[in-house]
Parts: sequence; C-alpha cells; structure tokens
Amino acid sequence: MPYVQAVIHEIQRIANTAPLSVFHCTTKDTELMGYSIPKGTVIIQNLTSVLREEGQWKFPHDFNPENFLDKQGDFVKPEAFMPFSAGPRVCLGEGLARMELFLFTVTLLKKFKFIWPEDAGKPDFTPVYGVMLSPKPYNMKVQLRS
Ligand code: HEM
Repeated sequence: MPYVQAVIHEIQRIANTAPLSVFHCTTKDTELMGYSIPKGTVIIQNLTSVLREEGQWKFPHDFNPENFLDKQGDFVKPEAFMPFSAGPRVCLGEGLARMELFLFTVTLLKKFKFIWPEDAGKPDFTPVYGVMLSPKPYNMKVQLRS
C-alpha cells in the first residue's frame, strides 16, 4: 500500500496537471520576502517549479516513486508536494480527489492488467498544453486478471 500511494503521488508530481494553479490577485498592498506587491496585482503561482525543485526531491527530474518513500519503505509526503496548490484557497476537492485516485487505481489494478502494446513504440510523454496539462491520446491493452 505505501508503494501504491507513492506511485500515485509521483504520477501527480510528474503529471503537473495544473502548472500555474489558478490566478489570484492581491486585495491590499503586500510585503513578501522583501518585495512590495501593490493592491490589485495578479499573482500567478508556479507549481511546476515547486514540483521539480532541486533540493526538495530525491529525484526532481525523473519519475521515481522513491520520492515519496523513506528508508524503511514507508510513505512520506514532502512539503513541496502541492499539485492542489496551498494556503486558504487550496483545492476544495483535494480530500475527495486523493481518495478517488487511490480507490480507482487499486480497483483497476486489482481487476486488470495494463499492457503497453509491443508495436506502439516508446510512449510520448509530451503533454497537451492548455490551462491544464493532459496526456496525448494513446492505445493501451487492458486484460482481465484471471
Ligand atoms: C487531481 C485532481 C485535482 C487537482 C490536481 C486540483 C487542483 C486544483 C488547483 C491547483 C486549484 C487552485 C487552487 C488555488 O486557487 O490556489 C483548485 C481549486 C479548486 N478545486 Fe481542485 N483539483 C482537483 C480535483 C478537484 C475536485 C475533485 C474538486 C471537487 C469535487 C475540486 C474542486 C475545487 C474547487 C471548488 C476549487 C476552488 C477553491 C477556491 O478557489 O477557494 N478539485 N484545484
């Protein structure tokens, strides 16, 4: 189970679904880390940067579930894991989304084998760019487990 959790979290980290989160705006003049930000400034969060930050992850640039496992193989969630953003406007559906990701993934993996077709070549991980990042269409062989 810790490994499944680590894989799901690593997929979310690398998938980087909402790279710029949702834009916000300062409601009053604000000081942040020495910067003066006037009222009415549009604030764009760079979640991509946090999710790949060197020094925050054991393997910042590679897909590796070890990013979420300690030496004993237990699941750990580093502070820099914030695909749902952070602060008072953090995703309201985070709890539901995390529960669903776990339940859907384990149910599907228990019932089916997912096989990359031999003639499909290497997977193309280049995302389809938009407000959200999504995967390119692909074919997958799905086999009922006996
Ligand atoms: C993997 C799935 C999801 C991801 C990665 C995600 C990500 C995000 C992000 C990055 C934001 C912007 C937070 C900000 O403004 O700083 C957001 C906002 C929001 N999300 Fe999600 N979300 C997911 C699923 C869901 C689900 C399932 C629901 C509802 C059932 C939901 C409801 C909301 C709502 C209502 C907001 C606006 C919160 C606010 O402005 O106060 N999200 N989400």
